[in-house]
Amino acid sequence: MKIAIVGTGYVGLVTGTCFAEIGVDVTCVDTNQSKIDALVQGIIPIYEPGLEDMVHRNVKSGRLKFTTSLESCLNDVEVVFCAVGTPPDEDGSADLSYVIEVARTIGRNANKYILVVTKSTVPVGTAQKVRLAIQEELDKRGGDILFDVASNPEFLKEGNAIADFMSPDRVVVGIDSDKAQALMTKLYKPFLLNNFRVIFMDIPSAEMTKYAANSMLATRISFMNDIANLCEKVGADVNMVRSGIGSDSRIGRKFLYPGIGYGGSCFPKDVKALIKTAEQCGYSMDVLKAVEAVNERQKHLLFEKLALLFEHDLKGRNIAVWGLSFKPETDDMREAPALVLINQLLKAGCHVKVYDPIAMEEGRRIFGDTISYANDMYNAAENASALMLLTEWKEFRMPSWSVLRDKMLQPIILDGRNIYDRKEVEDLGFIYRCIGY
Ligand SMILES: NC(=O)c1ccc[n+]([C@@H]2O[C@H](COP(=O)([O-])OP(=O)(O)OC[C@H]3O[C@@H](n4cnc5c(N)ncnc54)[C@H](O)[C@@H]3O)[C@@H](O)[C@H]2O)c1
Repeated sequence: MKIAIVGTGYVGLVTGTCFAEIGVDVTCVDTNQSKIDALVQGIIPIYEPGLEDMVHRNVKSGRLKFTTSLESCLNDVEVVFCAVGTPPDEDGSADLSYVIEVARTIGRNANKYILVVTKSTVPVGTAQKVRLAIQEELDKRGGDILFDVASNPEFLKEGNAIADFMSPDRVVVGIDSDKAQALMTKLYKPFLLNNFRVIFMDIPSAEMTKYAANSMLATRISFMNDIANLCEKVGADVNMVRSGIGSDSRIGRKFLYPGIGYGGSCFPKDVKALIKTAEQCGYSMDVLKAVEAVNERQKHLLFEKLALLFEHDLKGRNIAVWGLSFKPETDDMREAPALVLINQLLKAGCHVKVYDPIAMEEGRRIFGDTISYANDMYNAAENASALMLLTEWKEFRMPSWSVLRDKMLQPIILDGRNIYDRKEVEDLGFIYRCIGY
């Protein structure tokens, strides 16, 4: 089976490579020439564990190719996946211009039946817009080919994307024709044979499922952050509360970790987009509005704790920051809490020195020479008045406290992810602040 994946970012590249791995003939398309040039040379533009080897293996086998021209491969494939970005528009709604541009290119160039599947996260009604855009272009040139649209939202997590794609909790497919269902069944046959759940449904429900899933997860995070903030006020320990409620099977243990707020390319924009979709229908998503507000507040919390410790006298102090990416195992800094915190530190006149195992290049691209970049985690802490942990990378979990103590000017740790043991750290002479106890 031959398919094309348009958009070779975190989702498109992983999807394309994984389909190639299970025997599909895949062409990955992206308008970003330098990205495609790099991929053709075997250079992977993003950090995703296990991806590099898999790309190289499948390129070598001839099942995975890269191009900037959708036109050139369109009439050679049965299915086109659209995995381009859907960033937030100024008003918070999803910007569909890239998705619609892909649809128009298909309408202008398709010469035989094609199934167009949206993998990007898109609001309910987008498949219909894609259908209209393709039809409009076909009509302009008098093309009379048949085509179908489908929705196949992606649930992979950056940092664990390959495992998520290969062993999914579920695959959601929205279709409205037998032909589309047959093609998607053929494509996902290896998953069906392995008893993974492939759920077919109508297209609007598939589109909505993705937003509902991300919004539920964001809600759990904001809920726990609210509980954590209250725990601090009443003298409770959120770690105990988390373990107490997580063992209720109706609640479960996952996604109950308080911290400095969710970030990344998905939760913030998807929560915003769902609030906007509701507004456009005259409905107010009150729970999600609160989820967003709690998250914004939470991103400022660690800075407030720092300012309190120094009685707001922060000017000229060296502050060490461990972790830039929005979560471990990715170099993605989109909407990362680190962006808010570092800007606050700079505004307060601090000298910021950062270390991240993978996202240093991305950090440099964003902050340039306004901050300093350390060679390793201990180097970041040299002469620091405080160390702020923002991302729970594995290598930060068990630092040598004695080395840190020697390097730092003042022994102050602000743990934005609750990964250290308060008693252990305080017994070693550090002042310790975290979230929720
Ligand atoms: N990143 C995630 O963890 C994740 C998970 C699930 C779903 N999603 C959704 O998947 C979509 C893609 O996300 P991403 O993180 O992979 O984005 P990304 O920004 O990493 O990649 C998007 C790619 O699309 C390319 N592109 C834009 N217009 C194009 C066009 N007309 N033709 C060809 N290529 C074009 C861009 O150059 C870019 O390389 C979004 O809707 C996102 O919400 C993302």
